[in-house]
Amino acid sequence: MAKQDNTLLLGADPTTGGDGPNSHAHNSVHQKRTVDGEKQMINQSIANDFDMKNQNFDFSSIPCFRIATFGCSVGPNIFISLQSIIEAVESKYQLSSCESPEFQVIFNDYIDDFNTLFRSLPTSREYLVAGVPGSSHGRLFPNSTLHFVYSSSALHWLSKVPEEVMDKSSPAWNKGTIYCTGTSKHVNDAYLGQFERDVESFLNARAQELVMGGLMCLVISGIPNGAKFSESALGKVYDLLGFCLEDMAARGLISGEKLDSFNLPLYYPTSGKFLEVIKKNKHLSMVRFAILKHPLEYFVPSDQMIAGGLRAAIEGVIKNHFGDQIDIDELFSLYLKKLPESRPSIVDDNNRRNMDICIFLNHNGV
Ligand SMILES: C[S@@+](CC[C@H](N)C(=O)[O-])C[C@H]1O[C@@H](n2cnc3c(N)ncnc32)[C@H](O)[C@@H]1O
Repeated sequence: MAKQDNTLLLGADPTTGGDGPNSHAHNSVHQKRTVDGEKQMINQSIANDFDMKNQNFDFSSIPCFRIATFGCSVGPNIFISLQSIIEAVESKYQLSSCESPEFQVIFNDYIDDFNTLFRSLPTSREYLVAGVPGSSHGRLFPNSTLHFVYSSSALHWLSKVPEEVMDKSSPAWNKGTIYCTGTSKHVNDAYLGQFERDVESFLNARAQELVMGGLMCLVISGIPNGAKFSESALGKVYDLLGFCLEDMAARGLISGEKLDSFNLPLYYPTSGKFLEVIKKNKHLSMVRFAILKHPLEYFVPSDQMIAGGLRAAIEGVIKNHFGDQIDIDELFSLYLKKLPESRPSIVDDNNRRNMDICIFLNHNGV
């Protein structure tokens, strides 16, 4: 039996929950665009990569088709993805002249905000629901109980900031920068190492939970091969946050030392690195891969959207590190004030260097 690690139940609160103006629910346009782009991939993969002859999908003898979503946050995006998955599975069963199964959806995220999620469930849904709180870097489900695993815009969250970047005696000490820009090889290696370990533990846990032949869809924001994160639009968004924090430190509003030890637990891989990490897993085989059209190709976000999206994503991490010392409203009003200057580098055609990587894996039975 899997050993239950109770620390996995504690909230790591990166993303702002609830239903307020600064919540993920009201500030996730970027993720919504990604969800739109992935629908076609979901249809193709479920139509072609599910083997209906596999006994794990014979629902005359098995009670229900179980879908688990990891890092689901509070919606509404997750409900759109679920609709796409369920419609595709239903049409697969219809085409095979089989009766469609019952569906159970199990939502996973850190513990903080299941109330908002369950309050906002679509009333007309065709699935039964349950919630499993905890970190997706460990085991959360019994062996061979999931038929479809889904995770979007969550794997770039690291389980922790790599220790080396906070160690003053290490060449990877990340003084003066709040994330991994890709300009220092030591810092980049430390972040990449943490990302590799985290993705590996995520995949190992899911490989045990997924039935043989089961499918997994992972969507993650990344950067093109050879690019540095600091060159991407998202990199500029974080750079500006760093400048605002520096400004506040220079005015004595936060401690300079606290700022030096602040690093975001985020890593955006190149598509090549992400595939390399995925391919190391022996139990899961890649069956489909695509770069989704980047959200900024569809529309140009307003300043409010950029600042609101950033705040919803990382407010919790900032509060955790700086505590009561920091006035978050002041930080983001400064951000909005400085944004017009950086805006061209964020929304300009030449700087749209982020992309969303969508990958399907199946459990190969090994
Ligand atoms: C940017 S939100 C994306 C939410 C949603 N999937 C979407 O596409 O709109 C990322 C979510 O992943 C969750 N998350 C990050 N790391 C996680 C982990 N190790 N285990 C569970 N949830 C995690 C965060 O709490 C957050 O709610």
